[in-house]
Amino acid sequence: MRLRLGSLVLLFCSSAIAADITFIDLEEICKPPYTSGAILRKDPLFVDDFLALHCLLRKTKPDSVFEIGTCTGEGTLIIKNAVQDSLVYSLELELGTSSYDLQSIGSACYLPYVQVIGDSLSTNYADFYPISAWFIDGAHDYLHVFHETKQALQSNPVLIVWHDADIPEVLEAIQNGLQGSNHKLFQINNTRIAFSIPSEGNNHEL
Ligand SMILES: C[S@@+](CC[C@H](N)C(=O)[O-])C[C@H]1O[C@@H](n2cnc3c(N)ncnc32)[C@H](O)[C@@H]1O
Repeated sequence: MRLRLGSLVLLFCSSAIAADITFIDLEEICKPPYTSGAILRKDPLFVDDFLALHCLLRKTKPDSVFEIGTCTGEGTLIIKNAVQDSLVYSLELELGTSSYDLQSIGSACYLPYVQVIGDSLSTNYADFYPISAWFIDGAHDYLHVFHETKQALQSNPVLIVWHDADIPEVLEAIQNGLQGSNHKLFQINNTRIAFSIPSEGNNHEL
């Protein structure tokens, strides 16, 4: 009985300290002028998520972006197109070691970016500083997303965007990773996108 009570208290404490979520409609993010010039994903199931990514990048104008999880480079293309002259880094596991059936890395991104090969758990992100925005879309489990979120915060970014935040353990990792930080967490309704921005000192009206 004591153990059960202890677990209850622990559960209460961990949910009490995780970052709060503000829910927001896609239309609040995806509107002119931010929609301008967007490249849309071919797969209809990805269009809204990546239009939101485009608009968030246009709104926050980062000097550099670090993507975790290049895959074929379709997301990388959308990022580079959104930020134009800003530097884009994209990290992917060595070919042949991913659980995805990848024949090549990043081949869909025809705009220039820097391909980084490595594991997100052991990458020294400071080698790529300054990093002012992140797109976290690698392994969708607690361990990876928590580590990547903590690492992202260390670069003092203006924006962090996560894909697949509809997966409960991904969202939990995001909330716990942001806990105690100066970042405010948002989820965009009817998408798989969550994002965070510094709660003070930004002028994004969010
Ligand atoms: C969902 S896909 C990325 C999709 C891509 N961002 C897009 O928009 O099209 C996830 C990718 O993350 C890579 N990945 C998984 N674990 C990783 C890790 N620990 N470090 C780096 N990349 C990883 C996978 O190999 C896979 O290619």
